[in-house]
Amino acid sequence: MRVLVVGKGGREHAIAQKISESKMLQGLWVAPGNPGMTKMGLQCVNVEKTPEILAFCQTNRIDLAILGPEAAILSDLKEVLEKNNIACLAPSREAAHLEASKYFCKEILQDADLLTASFKLANSVAEGESFIKTHDFTNPIVVKADGLAAGKGVAVCKDMNSAMAAVTELSTAYGFPLLIEECLIGRELSAFALCDGEDFVILGTACDYKRITPDPFSANTGGMGAFSPCDFISHEDEAAIEDIFKKSLKSLKRKGKPFVGFLFAGLMKTDKGLYVLEFNVRLGDPETQALLPRIKSDLLDLSVKAVQGRLQKQKTEFHDYRSVHVVAVSSGYPSNTMDLGHTIQVPAKTAEDTRIYFAGVSSKNECLVNTGGRVLGVTALAKTRDEARQKAYQEIRKVQFQGLYFREDIAQ
Ligand code: AMP
Ligand code: GLY
Repeated sequence: MRVLVVGKGGREHAIAQKISESKMLQGLWVAPGNPGMTKMGLQCVNVEKTPEILAFCQTNRIDLAILGPEAAILSDLKEVLEKNNIACLAPSREAAHLEASKYFCKEILQDADLLTASFKLANSVAEGESFIKTHDFTNPIVVKADGLAAGKGVAVCKDMNSAMAAVTELSTAYGFPLLIEECLIGRELSAFALCDGEDFVILGTACDYKRITPDPFSANTGGMGAFSPCDFISHEDEAAIEDIFKKSLKSLKRKGKPFVGFLFAGLMKTDKGLYVLEFNVRLGDPETQALLPRIKSDLLDLSVKAVQGRLQKQKTEFHDYRSVHVVAVSSGYPSNTMDLGHTIQVPAKTAEDTRIYFAGVSSKNECLVNTGGRVLGVTALAKTRDEARQKAYQEIRKVQFQGLYFREDIAQ
């Protein structure tokens, strides 16, 4: 098989690395990838727009394209590739609506009879405010924009004034409707599956760290680290996760929007069970960098089966390892004023059971330099989470560039 992975971040580096281990593989490219991936032995090709990617796939007889980022998934790429008989692992734009509209996501969850926070739909400021006035604020209330908002469309509000302000701010920025939602109290985790429209295989669970520092009110980021699996879930929770994917896929199929691709469930473990917060229609970054190294099964084989609708009776096998992933970011991240362009030094050879995944890097005078917020990340595998954490930190301390920052508390 000849495979193209589309994307350029740490997630796509981890996908390509995992695919490169497949016995079925005859050729692998990443578009556009990054020079860090090239340094690690992957072939990157500098194409990003749909017509260029199509031309590359045709010239290089690509059998399967795997789309990593949301932007590629929401573009016309899948439609164009499939029209030209190139298989594409990604959901259709109709199925991707599951992430693009929180209201559509709620409809699916309700249709599937799954646990999710209760909510009301507000179509005006007055309506939003009237819902908020009936809330007693023993617990906070959550105000959400319906559409995509780059992680900025959710406000968890502890009092009436901030909730009223959130209604005005979110509707001004993203329009109506807004969802006014019950606040769930518990521990957050993510679960991942690879889906063929009806059946699925579980890829594992992970917990990520979204804030730039351990302070829960510090700035939100794309993700500063992750560990896998989540070790606070029970066998019943695992069964509930299976049920969440099974019933959601059924409901999506019933509504004429069968889901093919990677599905990411954002969950909250509460006293009353596992609730679904949201779905993303892709793998998480940096969760993928913690998830995929734990998988023993051939990801290319499973990916081919997913696009062919043949995942029934398939099961993922896992290595008996825990993983921890720590992200190194540029100074100033996540603000717009970052300290970029500095030479990055990484160990010539990574320690056993550790991997380095590159993201915001470019090449200058044959050296890697930091040109993005999240620059790279290190994953370590070990029998215990504690051991994996120590190994990941030992390894990331060997990386150097001016202004390098990472959180010290990942997986603690
Ligand atoms: P979402 O985009 O819906 O996942 O929301 C982003 C973040 O907001 C989640 O990761 C949670 O931390 C928080 N959040 C969203 N909805 C709720 C809720 N109903 N209760 C508590 N926290 C929530
Ligand atoms: N790490 C969260 C995400 O990929 O959305």
